[in-house]
Amino acid sequence: MPSIRARKGGEKIVCLTAYTAPMAALLDPHVDLLLVGDSLGMVIHGLPTTVGVTLEMMIMHGQAVMRGSTKALVVVDMPFGTYEASPQQAHESAARIMRETGCQAVKVEACEGIAETIAFLSNRGIPVIGHVGLRPQAANVEGGFLAKGRTVAERERVLAEARAADEAGAFAIVVEGVARDLADEVTASVGAPTIGIGASPDCDGQVLVTDDMLGLFDWTPKFVRRYGAMRELVSTAVAAYASDVRSGAFPGKAELYALKTG
Ligand code: KIV
Repeated sequence: MPSIRARKGGEKIVCLTAYTAPMAALLDPHVDLLLVGDSLGMVIHGLPTTVGVTLEMMIMHGQAVMRGSTKALVVVDMPFGTYEASPQQAHESAARIMRETGCQAVKVEACEGIAETIAFLSNRGIPVIGHVGLRPQAANVEGGFLAKGRTVAERERVLAEARAADEAGAFAIVVEGVARDLADEVTASVGAPTIGIGASPDCDGQVLVTDDMLGLFDWTPKFVRRYGAMRELVSTAVAAYASDVRSGAFPGKAELYALKTG
C-alpha cells in the first residue's frame, strides 16, 4: 500500500479488475493493482446492478484472485449494505474480507459518513481506497449509471467527498465518470493518488473493467478502449468446436488414449 500511495504525481498506477485465479495470474505481471470489483455482480453473475452483490461473493472471488496473483496489490470492493450503516459495521465486514481472502486493502464508495468510516478502518490496520463521482451502488437513487459533475452543486459534492476521503486517510481515490476538468481538480486537491475511470489522463493511474477492455461484451461505455476482441475469438473457437463435434472430426486420433496392453 505505501508504494502505491507514494506514486502521487509519479509513475502512473496501472489497475485492472480481476475476479478469477487464472485471469489474475495473466494480469498480475502487468499491473500494480488488481481490483476485485463488485462489478463482478454484473460481469460474472449477470445481475442488473452491483446492489445484489454479497460479502460472501466478494470473499469467494477475492480468495480466487489472491491464489492467482503474486506481485500486484489486491483490493476487494466492499459490497452494498456491508459498510454504510456505521464504522463498526464496516470494520466487521472489512476485517472478514481481509482475514478470509488475505487481500491487502478494501474499497468503499463515498456514501454519507464515509470519511469517519475510512478513518476508523485506516486506524485499525485496514488500508482503504475511496471511490467518488459515478457511484454504481447508488444507481437506484441516481436513476442509472450517470456521469457526475454536470451542475455546480454536483461538482462541489464530488470535490468535497474526495477531500474528505483523503483527509480521513484513504491511500488512493478512484474517480469515476466525471468531466476531465473536475477529475483534474480532484487530483490537484488531494494528497492521495487518484485512479481514473472515465475521468482524465492526468489522474495518477487508470483502471478499467478487464472484460470491457478485452472486448467480451458487444456494448462498452464511451470511456472504454478495447484492447482485444475476445467476444469474436470465443465465438469463432466455439463455432469450430461445435462443427467438429457434429461432424465427428473431434476427437481425433491424437486426442485419444491408446493404452498399451500386455
Ligand atoms: O467494481 C468495479 O469494478 C469498480 C471499478 C470499475 C472502479 O469499482
